[in-house]
Amino acid sequence: MPSMLITGANRGIGLELARQFAAAGWEVIGTARNPDSATELAKVAQVVPLEVTDPQAIDVLVKALDGRPIDVLIANAGIALNLQASAADVTRAEFLKVIRTNTFAPLALARALKPNLLAGQLRLCCAMSSLMSSVSANDWGTQYSYRASKTALNATWSALAAEWAPEGITCTLLRPGMVATDMTNGVGLQVQDSVAGMKAVVEGLSLSDAGRIIGYDGLDVPW
Ligand SMILES: NC(=O)c1ccc[n+]([C@@H]2O[C@H](COP(=O)([O-])OP(=O)(O)OC[C@H]3O[C@@H](n4cnc5c(N)ncnc54)[C@H](OP(=O)(O)O)[C@@H]3O)[C@@H](O)[C@H]2O)c1
Repeated sequence: MPSMLITGANRGIGLELARQFAAAGWEVIGTARNPDSATELAKVAQVVPLEVTDPQAIDVLVKALDGRPIDVLIANAGIALNLQASAADVTRAEFLKVIRTNTFAPLALARALKPNLLAGQLRLCCAMSSLMSSVSANDWGTQYSYRASKTALNATWSALAAEWAPEGITCTLLRPGMVATDMTNGVGLQVQDSVAGMKAVVEGLSLSDAGRIIGYDGLDVPW
């Protein structure tokens, strides 16, 4: 039975990933900032606490896992703040908070869990990107901090893909599409459909996919 660790799995896309992989027989570990209120997640996964921006919390998670193999990591937790702000209204605090959560936290977690990935069979290290990460597809502006955080995540994962491929770890970015969750105020694709697509993508990944940004529809996202 393959194993998977998903961050931010108490709601939205993370919760649906946990549900669909658990239903397919995977052993799922889902992280939540408030495990006691992650009741839906607890029905399908082992719930562990994690504030992804807290290095000490990552240390605690690593110790709790105690070298346990993890076949697939999905760094899913993310935030979007003040998406409609114009350049004049973007604040330093907001910008850095989004970068801390969406860009640095996935890297900090991935490197902390590298021994667990190496102990697994599949060795897949995924992070949640977005079409908003694409510089070439950006023809309407706004979403400064969110776009920057996901573009930087792509660059980070691309470097990680190159660094870890020789050790057999496949680092790939996923794009869920615009999905009806709290992040989008319920506008977009049904989360079940997006996650079904991403599940098929993850199940088909191999080392030749390292560094790609792959959509729920199987298509590459332009850089
Ligand atoms: N929805 C979309 O259309 C869409 C499109 C492209 C990409 N994405 C990406 O997909 C991922 C999931 O999005 P979603 O729509 O499911 O968002 P969501 O419904 O807002 O859920 C976000 C999840 O991330 C967790 N999280 C946020 N900050 C965290 C932190 N500092 N530490 C730990 N957990 C944290 C939240 O935990 P709490 O419940 O504790 O806040 C929640 O579980 C994100 O990376 C997002 O950028 C989403």
